[in-house]
Amino acid sequence: MTTDTTTKDTAPAAPTPGQTVLDARGVTMRFGGLTAVRNVDLTVNSGEIVGLIGPNGAGKTTFFNCLTGLYIPTEGEVRYKGTVLPAKSFKVTAAGIARTFQNIRLFANMTVLENVLVGRHTRTKEGLWSALLRGPGFHKAEAASRERAMELLKFIGLDKKAEHLARNLPYGEQRKLEIARALASEPGLLLLDEPTAGMNPQETRATEELVFAIRDMGIAVLVIEHDMRFIFNLCDRVAVLVQGEKLVEGSSEVVQGDERVVAAYLGEPFEDAPGAKEVAEVEAAEANAATQTDAAPRKENDR
Ligand SMILES: Nc1ncnc2c1ncn2[C@@H]1O[C@H](COP(=O)(O)OP(=O)(O)OP(=O)(O)O)[C@@H](O)[C@H]1O
Ligand SMILES: [Mg+2]
Repeated sequence: MTTDTTTKDTAPAAPTPGQTVLDARGVTMRFGGLTAVRNVDLTVNSGEIVGLIGPNGAGKTTFFNCLTGLYIPTEGEVRYKGTVLPAKSFKVTAAGIARTFQNIRLFANMTVLENVLVGRHTRTKEGLWSALLRGPGFHKAEAASRERAMELLKFIGLDKKAEHLARNLPYGEQRKLEIARALASEPGLLLLDEPTAGMNPQETRATEELVFAIRDMGIAVLVIEHDMRFIFNLCDRVAVLVQGEKLVEGSSEVVQGDERVVAAYLGEPFEDAPGAKEVAEVEAAEANAATQTDAAPRKENDR
């Protein structure tokens, strides 16, 4: 009897510099009458850290969900290293895209190490008989997985807490553990949804260093964050989503200096902004109504 136990322990070959890792084209996601993401194009190249910013409700997480098979985009196409992505999240992970979630999703009652081991399952193929019989092949594969998981915990700075329950970790460490779990699938692209939310400034700084180190391991990164200092320090390129549409994309300098971005964050509509026409119409109607009601008391006073 053959025991089908193979473990792919090696990370995918590092892509050649400048290769397009992610290519999203014309991605649109509608929920009934609401268009959460509208015709968004975005590429991420190997060796890059790309930021995705925008006000609350701009469609950032929805866009991530479209990239990871959680949602099937209403329109558009997503390619990873040239191949159209399958429409199932576990297949997307197996293809090489890993992610963390805006709302932490850990197995709270499992240990730190077990959480990372869960992340490795797409890279470990234990045949049924192998797993049932728990033969030498199975034990070898399991030992290799544990070793890799411990390596990742060391990288992330949580190796001393490998046996702690995930729920007992402070919030900042839970976010780090999510990153370790994502790395356990040996991705070529890592998507981080608000990795520093709830962190103190020291933890945020450490996370910045961590993302640089991940990039240096040959993993391209796409990161959503509201902390602008973090984004502008970190990213080679930043794309700004406003009301589901990509408003601006460029280097940190270009995006920081773009008055439309500032206006979008301050909630001030500007010429040609997504939804600006509708806002202008509502404001004109309100102004008109105000003038009419204002007019009446003035007449009273004139008397
Ligand atoms: N499953 C869904 N069904 C219906 N509407 C949804 C769904 N998911 C998201 N939306 C809507 O899509 C829009 C974009 O939401 P999304 O969570 O993508 O924004 P975001 O940019 O990630 O915001 P935040 O910065 O607050 O996390 C919102 O109006 C939201 O209510
Ligand atoms: Mg979000």
